[in-house]
Amino acid sequence: MSAIMDKKNLVDTLKPHSTIDREGILVAKEIADKTVWDKLALENPTHAVISAGTEAEAAKKSAIQIADIKEHVQAGDILLDLGTGYGRVAKYLLPEMPLTGYIGVDSAYAMLALFRERYSASPAEQKTPLLLINADIHTLPLQDVSVDTVIVSAVFLHNHKNVVEQAMAELKRVVKPGGTILIYSSFPRAATCMGMQGLAYQAFLNLVGRPFKNGPVRYYWRSEIMHLFDGFTEVTLKPVGYAVVPKSLIFLPKTLDKIWRVGFANPLNRALEYITPTFLKYYCAVHFDVVAKR
Ligand SMILES: C[S@@+](CC[C@H](N)C(=O)[O-])C[C@H]1O[C@@H](n2cnc3c(N)ncnc32)[C@H](O)[C@@H]1O
Repeated sequence: MSAIMDKKNLVDTLKPHSTIDREGILVAKEIADKTVWDKLALENPTHAVISAGTEAEAAKKSAIQIADIKEHVQAGDILLDLGTGYGRVAKYLLPEMPLTGYIGVDSAYAMLALFRERYSASPAEQKTPLLLINADIHTLPLQDVSVDTVIVSAVFLHNHKNVVEQAMAELKRVVKPGGTILIYSSFPRAATCMGMQGLAYQAFLNLVGRPFKNGPVRYYWRSEIMHLFDGFTEVTLKPVGYAVVPKSLIFLPKTLDKIWRVGFANPLNRALEYITPTFLKYYCAVHFDVVAKR
């Protein structure tokens, strides 16, 4: 029997359309979806983690967040950056504020490789010892009560809610009592037009048997977020952004969607924001950031 025939027999053991062939190795689609981050890391790491065209734009967008992080972090802290990407937060935070230790966790190896490369060339960042771990956010190879502060920035939103629930259980386990968790751009609000679309799309994914698909944004009700922080002593939800008109329509092809966003949704939202009374703006927020104490 030829080797090719042997392989044909083996290939028959696979579920149809469940894998992707990468240079002779079969990658399960659920994992392959995740490696979109590896691809983005190689093409344009700045764009992969923050929607900004240039380094200067990324720095500007990061400045407000870094100022906020500095208010919650102490120099003696070990900080865990969950879904660290290429280490954007470390890049801007550590030169200004060296820490006892920085742990970057990410499922995309290529992102961590970029982080290591930059860190190795940056004496300012090297004042803080660094540990990079290629792992999933919901199975952390870290000891109980081992970190002081956690940052999760733009990571939860593309993960299934079950994964986020397990990741939060992991954070409860690894954060020291009195430690702080800072969550940015991770809980888009369900009570919005975008949220309604997202919930409908998740219902569709459930129906077609792909509930865990990595990629689509998951939307949250306030009560769901509070539930994730059960057992924390202080939990503050901060409404961020403004949108009444949905910024994207999932059924539109990419180009039409961009036209909708740039030509219609963005200008209309800006005008509506201008005339909305302050007390109503809370109800138009795009997402919640969270600060919680263990
Ligand atoms: C939008 S980037 C944000 C990177 C960084 N936190 C920042 O704000 O610059 C999302 C990152 O989260 C990682 N990620 C997403 N889901 C993950 C999971 N389930 N486990 C580990 N990493 C994950 C991706 O690989 C990617 O590097």
